[in-house]
Amino acid sequence: MTSLADHISDAQATDEEFLRKIFIRSQMQDFVRDPLLMTRAEDCYYWDVHGKRYLDALSGIYVVSVGHSNRRVIDAIKQQMDTLCFSPPMHGSNPVAVRLANRLVELAPGDLAAAKLLCGGSEATEAAFKMARQYHKLTGHPGKYKIISRYQSWHGSTMASLSASGLSSRKTVNEPLAPGFLHVFPPTCYRCPFGKEYPSCNLTCASLISDVIQAEDPETVAAVIVEPIGHTGGVIDPPDEYLPMLRELCDKHNVLLIFDEVINGAGRTGHLFAAQTFGVTPDIVCLGKGISGGYAPLSAVLCRQHVADAFWGDPAVNPGFVEGHTFEGNPIACIAGLATLDEIVDRDLCANARAMGARLKAGLEGLRKYGIIGQIRGKGLFLGFDIVANPATKAQFNPPIGLKIGKRALANGLLTRFDPHWIALGPPLIVGETEINEILRLLDQSIREVLEV
Ligand SMILES: Cc1ncc(COP(=O)(O)O)c(C=O)c1O
Repeated sequence: MTSLADHISDAQATDEEFLRKIFIRSQMQDFVRDPLLMTRAEDCYYWDVHGKRYLDALSGIYVVSVGHSNRRVIDAIKQQMDTLCFSPPMHGSNPVAVRLANRLVELAPGDLAAAKLLCGGSEATEAAFKMARQYHKLTGHPGKYKIISRYQSWHGSTMASLSASGLSSRKTVNEPLAPGFLHVFPPTCYRCPFGKEYPSCNLTCASLISDVIQAEDPETVAAVIVEPIGHTGGVIDPPDEYLPMLRELCDKHNVLLIFDEVINGAGRTGHLFAAQTFGVTPDIVCLGKGISGGYAPLSAVLCRQHVADAFWGDPAVNPGFVEGHTFEGNPIACIAGLATLDEIVDRDLCANARAMGARLKAGLEGLRKYGIIGQIRGKGLFLGFDIVANPATKAQFNPPIGLKIGKRALANGLLTRFDPHWIALGPPLIVGETEINEILRLLDQSIREVLEV
């Protein structure tokens, strides 16, 4: 089999004119100066166009749940390609998509009962908002349209998912955004937005959402969307009471609770659904990234029985869920999803995520010797830590050093998610002790080199 490297010589791949033709996620000048081009991957490792090896402590970006080059998924896709690659989405579906919807429902907690199969996380959160709004219209509450989400959150880059997101750095350039999106503060206990301490705070961050709904008029509020563990901000896992409180206040106000499990799902937090990790069933769950392991673009929106029921009826009065995309339920993506789920379940990768996550978390404690680690957070193989100048006062570095550490780690062959003040880790769920030790060794080395100690 030929690889990209066979087609692009090193000289060509690093040629500025050649590289300038593609828009990437960050400043192209930086990319062109020091381009990272992966050409090959196996298990927990990538190789770039120059043959340099990287330990993937991020699953690409929380995607490669069952590892790179997974034989079972690849073989399933190859077989599917010989059978059916596309079915007409306007007229029906295909058996692979129906099987995947059933499998997801079977594995999901509570009475999550039906699934819409899409291509990416942003499509999933967009569809969840539409589902919530249409549900209320179908059930006699047409005025309920507002979506409440949290500052610091990321729910995607399409207009409505971006409107729900809470990162000014990514929103401002696109404003004005869609109307009907409100934001509240997240449960960042390490730096409480209300200046309080847990547990004497009585979870102001949660109870305030009820106050906001009340102040807005509950008859105008459709849904609350949260990631069970928030990614941006440095892997924000909420106090135990937080999600049960959200469940209760949403029930009280007839507001749908949406979990964005685009990162959290597919076993990442140590259970297939983060809803299981926290023992709270939302009305709608968005899945993406890890459910197809990166082998094909796939996402899903699952809803509970009472929500699904609202979309069922005589077409003369009920159009069903008015949401559709050309590539929804694509058989190649769906077979990738089925095979990935089989891998996670059959190999009990959730248990591995719990065990290896505990090992990684314990190892991160060892980095405290450098005096720059604040709080270490997360569950399963979804972990993050703050980088602070003074752990006692929580004072941040000025200028920040998070990017320096992350970039040094990359230079040392370790892929992480780095921000100015935090670093997050999310290796494939197949990761073993050897790779966990290597992640810790490379992090240790990178911190040491940046601090010059
Ligand atoms: C929590 C969360 N939701 C939604 C999205 C959007 O997913 P996608 O980039 O696949 O559209 C992301 C992407 O990073 C995400 O992290």
